[in-house]
Amino acid sequence: MKVCCIGAGYVGGPTMAVIAQKCPHIEVTVVDINQERIAEWNSDHLPVYEPGLDAVVQECRGKNLFFSSDVDKAILESEMIFLAVNTPTKTYGIGAGRAADLRYVENCARQIAKVAQGDKIVVEKSTLPVRTAESIKHILTANSQGRNFQILSNPEFLAEGTAIQDLESPDRVLIGGDPTKEGQVAVDQLVSIYENWVPREKIITTNIWSSELSKLTANAFLAQRISSINAISALCEATGANVDEVAHAIGTDERIGPKFLKASVGFGGSCFKKDILNLAYMCEHFGLKEVADYWNSVIEMNDYQKKRFSANVLSHLFNTVSHKKIALYGFAFKKDTNDTRESAAISIASDLLAESANVTIFDPKVSEEQIRKDLHVSDDNQKVSIAKDPYEAAEEADAILILTEWDMFKTLDFTKIYEMMRKPAFIYDGRNILDIEALRKIGFDAQSIGRT
Ligand code: UDX
Ligand code: ADP
Repeated sequence: MKVCCIGAGYVGGPTMAVIAQKCPHIEVTVVDINQERIAEWNSDHLPVYEPGLDAVVQECRGKNLFFSSDVDKAILESEMIFLAVNTPTKTYGIGAGRAADLRYVENCARQIAKVAQGDKIVVEKSTLPVRTAESIKHILTANSQGRNFQILSNPEFLAEGTAIQDLESPDRVLIGGDPTKEGQVAVDQLVSIYENWVPREKIITTNIWSSELSKLTANAFLAQRISSINAISALCEATGANVDEVAHAIGTDERIGPKFLKASVGFGGSCFKKDILNLAYMCEHFGLKEVADYWNSVIEMNDYQKKRFSANVLSHLFNTVSHKKIALYGFAFKKDTNDTRESAAISIASDLLAESANVTIFDPKVSEEQIRKDLHVSDDNQKVSIAKDPYEAAEEADAILILTEWDMFKTLDFTKIYEMMRKPAFIYDGRNILDIEALRKIGFDAQSIGRT
């Protein structure tokens, strides 16, 4: 059997690599119009950093896993085509800033309609608004010329940083298909791929719309937990409660559960904000204003948390950061990824730059080029510098802000760092990963989210 995936990004690359690894009898080709990205997938320096990904790619590449920019050939040869192209928030026209921009998905559907010679199963992997499958189907059937196209929704639930683990042992696999006989045959075919490594009882089949909506809902619920604990973190700071203790205490209630209760400087990533905006936009479209407002407030709380963090930094540094050196530890939106999309670090750095601070950034995996792109600053901009390690970043700094929870930050020599900094030396842990009392003993003016 031959399958292909259009889109070699954070979803398409890792997902297809694991399918290839678990199904040696299936030939998997990942295609992308971005030739540079494909060249990287074929090199020793993969475009996506994920723990464990290199090993899987090395094991399968050239055997049953191929990366190519020949999209037409892959469509022609594959029985099943996964779509994992980007679906950013629209930046123009109706729904700008809220609705999903479906042009990449539509382009793919048109290309499949043009190129395919036989029957195809098209699997949507990208997170999409509910009823997108219907649009894809409409384009394909309007151009079918006797070919049978089946559309399935198979949303990906992997989280970056743990993608390989999540793909190898998922909590569930969700497959939505048409209730017709042909639709169910297509569903069974996709089920049979996952059955190579996922227990059957973990594979949930639904209609297409339930599957599409479940993905948006899952992300909205996860983000809502973070905004809820972040809201409580503000109250903890006002009252002297400790947010980690509160999270632990409530998380032991089985109905609440302990995960996704880590207060932070704000959630980032390519999915949460985009999917909630999309969900709320859809609610408005259907006249459900109160429902839209409810979900929008999750994003508002996240924006508030980021602003609150920047404002706290400013107030601790005597209400001015102008020409002070502020070291940012971490730029990725979470640990173990090189992805910076919607990272809280971008907002914090931008707030500080607007106050005329000198910002020095260290991240173990994000490139200087990416950081400068995200902050819209050129190589010769003197206000932003990139440090090669955390110690270099701390040299003569007024403050250190922990913005990503990289494990390496937990084992730094903070006594040495303290000595290198200007005094009073301020540290603000936006991820609550450090022992704040120990830092205070060293001499730091230390703060962390949700603690006094
Ligand atoms: C998320 C979903 O988890 C995943 O199922 C979906 O497929 C895609 O979106 P991802 O964005 O990759 O995955 O990472 P996730 O681990 O969910 O973290 C998102 C953001 O929330 C990060 O910025 C993270 O630091 C933050 N976060 C997470 C918290 O601030 N507190 C927490 O307790 C958990
Ligand atoms: P995600 O995080 O959802 O995987 P990415 O932006 O990392 O999103 O990856 C999406 C990929 O899809 C990009 O590399 C982009 O070049 C690719 N892409 C978009 N449209 C097409 C298309 N019509 N044909 C092939 N690849 C496409």
